[in-house]
Amino acid sequence: MKENILLLGDSVELLKKVPDETVDLIFADPPFTLEEVHPPVRCDYLTWTRQWMKECVRVLKRTGSIYIQMSSDYAPFVFNIAIKEGLYYKNWIVWKHSYVCQERKRFGKAYTPILFFTRHSSKYSFNVQEKEDCVDTWFTDKSEEEATRKIDELSTPSSILERIIKTSSNKGDLILDPFVGSGTSLVVAKKFNRRYIGFDSSEYKIKLALRRLKQVSS
Ligand SMILES: C[S@@+](CC[C@H](N)C(=O)[O-])C[C@H]1O[C@@H](n2cnc3c(N)ncnc32)[C@H](O)[C@@H]1O
Repeated sequence: MKENILLLGDSVELLKKVPDETVDLIFADPPFTLEEVHPPVRCDYLTWTRQWMKECVRVLKRTGSIYIQMSSDYAPFVFNIAIKEGLYYKNWIVWKHSYVCQERKRFGKAYTPILFFTRHSSKYSFNVQEKEDCVDTWFTDKSEEEATRKIDELSTPSSILERIIKTSSNKGDLILDPFVGSGTSLVVAKKFNRRYIGFDSSEYKIKLALRRLKQVSS
C-alpha cells in the first residue's frame, strides 16, 4: 500500500490491504455507536470493533503501539478485546475536557478514555515528554475545544494527537488512523515528519482532511 495517503472506504476492508507488521503507531477514534458506522454493519458494535481491532493488531509492528479513543460505555469491553488479541496494556488515559455530556439517570461524562497498548511488553518507542505531560490525565480547555469544534464537531484536539505521536513514534515512522475524520492525526503526523495512512468512509471527511493536509508544509 502507498504511504502518505488517505483512502475513502470501510476501515475493515481497507485495513486488509495493509501488509502485516508494517505500522509503527495506530490512533483509532471509531464511531461511538453502531448507528454512526457507515456503511451499516449487520453485527453488534463489539463484534464490529473486534473486526477492525484484529486487523490493527495484524498490521502493527512487533514494536508498535496503539491508542484507542472511545466512549466510556465501551472502554471496558474494548480493553478485554485488546488483551485477548495479545496486546500489552500500558495506560488508561483520561482525557478530561471542559464540556460534560449530560446523562439522565447517571453521572455526566466529563472525560473520554484513551487506551494505550503495545504489541511487545517492553520493546516500543516511548519518548518522554515534559514532566507534566508524562501522566495519564490529560486536560483540554474550553478555548481549544471550541477551536477544534470549528474544524469539525467530532475532531480530536491537536494537543492530544501531538502527545501521542511525539511520545510513541519517531521521525519517519508510519502512522495509521482507520477513522481519520477531519484528519487531525495525519496533520500532526505530517507536521512532525512521520509517514501516514488514513481511512474514512465519509467523502466529506476525506475532502476536509485532504484540505487540511495540503496546508501543512512538512
Ligand atoms: C469519532 S470520528 C473520528 C474523528 C477524528 N478523530 C477527528 O479528529 O476528526 C469517527 C469517524 O469514523 C468514520 N467512519 C464511520 N464508519 C466507518 C467505517 N466503517 N470505516 C471507516 N470510517 C468510518 C466517520 O465518518 C467519522 O469520521
